[in-house]
Amino acid sequence: MATIIDGKKTSSEIKDELKEQVEQLKEKNIEVCLCVIQVGSDPASAIYVNNKKKACEYIGIKSLSYELPEDTTQEHLLELIDKLNKQDDVHGILVQLPIPKHIDEDRIIQAISPNKDVDGFHPQSVGRLSIGQKGFVSCTPAGIVQLLKRYNISMEGKECVIVGRSNIVGKPMAMLMLRENATVTICHSRTKNLAEVTKRADILIVAIGKAKFIKNEHVKEGAVVIDVGMHRNENNKLCGDVDYDDVIDKVSAITPVPGGVGPMTIAMLMYNCVESMVPATK
Ligand code: GUN
Repeated sequence: MATIIDGKKTSSEIKDELKEQVEQLKEKNIEVCLCVIQVGSDPASAIYVNNKKKACEYIGIKSLSYELPEDTTQEHLLELIDKLNKQDDVHGILVQLPIPKHIDEDRIIQAISPNKDVDGFHPQSVGRLSIGQKGFVSCTPAGIVQLLKRYNISMEGKECVIVGRSNIVGKPMAMLMLRENATVTICHSRTKNLAEVTKRADILIVAIGKAKFIKNEHVKEGAVVIDVGMHRNENNKLCGDVDYDDVIDKVSAITPVPGGVGPMTIAMLMYNCVESMVPATK
């Protein structure tokens, strides 16, 4: 019987641990503050932003929010980020993506101070991760490492195959698994004989954005499968990048969708916000 890796439960545990840390900081008169900026009114973004605010409230992190209109200029957004960078009582800054097309996303990510980059998207955060220095780590891959560790699934010496090479998941995931002494392979849309590669995986991480793409034939007997995808099928039911029913009898552990990786992303954002306080407490 496969272990179902419960991201909802694990994220609740992490949030409760953080709540305690935040209470301890409050006793020292230190208040953690995250500022969330949304540009435009994308309905999915509005839900994500609201969930982030709710998580802050639960843990005791102060949240500031800016809801800017769709026609906000790049200059205005850069000015706001500059102001928040200089504000000592703001510890984390997050610009919800996607942003409208007339604004250069890279320019915005780079404008956020690396000391407040709780998303871990700034080139300095990415660079630090890749050379093994301390810094903010992108929340979804950091959440996956937490899930594996808390389920006592060691990465050391394991064949870890990542399907997907995005800047937010695939690439930082590879760096984190290397840090855990795994043997890492990244596959992508041009990989030849994908199933041959994914079948080598002791731990298979799938982040390609294609519903139920990974089937029984892609998975080794006893593999651990981590599904980062999130899709709605024709019956409005959520599913992942992995065909869960097709692989469930073959795997030793798997993350479900929903309730697997998804909830961990916000928990790790909260973790990064608390981490952002470290300089203040030293
Ligand atoms: N849009 C979808 N996921 C994310 C995320 O993790 N961070 C930000 N800033 N925007 C997102």
